[in-house]
Amino acid sequence: MQIITEPCQMQAIAEKLRLNRQLIGVVMTMGALHEGHLSLVKLARQSAGTVILTIFVNPSQFGLDEDLHQYPRPFEQDVALAKAAEVDYLFAPDAGSIYPENYQTTLECGALGKRLEGERRPGHFNGVATIVTKLFHITKPHRAIFGQKDAQQLAIIRQIVKDLDLDITIVAAPIIREESGLAVSSRNIYLSNQERSAASILYQGICHAEQCIADKKKELPAIAAEIEQMIGSTPGCRSDYVVFVDEERFLPVETVEEGKEYRLLLAAWCGRVRLIDNGKFRA
Ligand code: PAF
Repeated sequence: MQIITEPCQMQAIAEKLRLNRQLIGVVMTMGALHEGHLSLVKLARQSAGTVILTIFVNPSQFGLDEDLHQYPRPFEQDVALAKAAEVDYLFAPDAGSIYPENYQTTLECGALGKRLEGERRPGHFNGVATIVTKLFHITKPHRAIFGQKDAQQLAIIRQIVKDLDLDITIVAAPIIREESGLAVSSRNIYLSNQERSAASILYQGICHAEQCIADKKKELPAIAAEIEQMIGSTPGCRSDYVVFVDEERFLPVETVEEGKEYRLLLAAWCGRVRLIDNGKFRA
C-alpha cells in the first residue's frame, strides 16, 4: 500500500491508472477506521481493480461548536487496518494542501442539504459536498462507495453526481451494526458503557417501525411519535428528530401507500453524543 499526501501526486497516479484501464474504487473517510469503513473497502475491492482510501478530517464540514479538534486521529492504527484490508493507495492529505491559503470555493447544496441534518448543522453539507467533489477530482474514481448510515449525505452525493454530470457510480453500502443493534460509527467511542447500551434504542425504534408497517399501520407521524417516546423514556437519551421521508427528496411522508418505499430517519442524543440512524421500509 502506498501512502500519498499530495493531491497532485494522487491525481497523477489516478490518471495513470485510468490510462492503464484500471477500474478505480474510492472509499472516503475521516479516519478512525472501524468495521463500517472496512465493509466499504471490501465492497470496493469486489468491484474495482484498484482501491483508494482517503483519510481527511474535513474542517469545512464541522460547525464551530462541534468536535473538529477532538475528532479521533489514530493514523498508525488506520494505516495498519488499511493495509490489512488490501487498500492499494491511502490518500491522507493535510488541511493546507486541500484548502491552501486564499482558497475560496464552496459547493452550495440545494434544499436537500438544508433539511434535517442540514438544518441542525448549518453549512455541514456544503462542506461535505465540497470535499467529496474535490476528492472525486483528485482520485478520479469509476466507483465510490458510501455508507447507508449517513443516508442524507448519500442522497446529497447522488444529487451532486447527477447535477454535475459526474461519470461515477455511487455504491450504497449497508449499515453495519453492533450486536445490540447500535450502528457502527466513529463517534461511538465517545459513549460511556451505559450510554452505549442505551443507544441501542435507536435500532429498537427502527424495529418498532418495521413491526408497525408489517401490521399495516398507516399513520407514519403517529409511529414516529411512538419512537420518539421510546427514545425519550430511555435514561440519558433525548430524541432530536424521528421522521419518515421519501427516498429521493427526503420530504416528510404522512401516510403509507402500498408498494412505496420510505426511509425512517432518527437523530438522538445519548449523553453528549449525537447519533443518527435510519431504516428503509417497503409498505
Ligand atoms: O462520511 C464521512 O466520513 C465524511 O462526511 C466524508 C464523506 C468522508 C467527507 O468528509
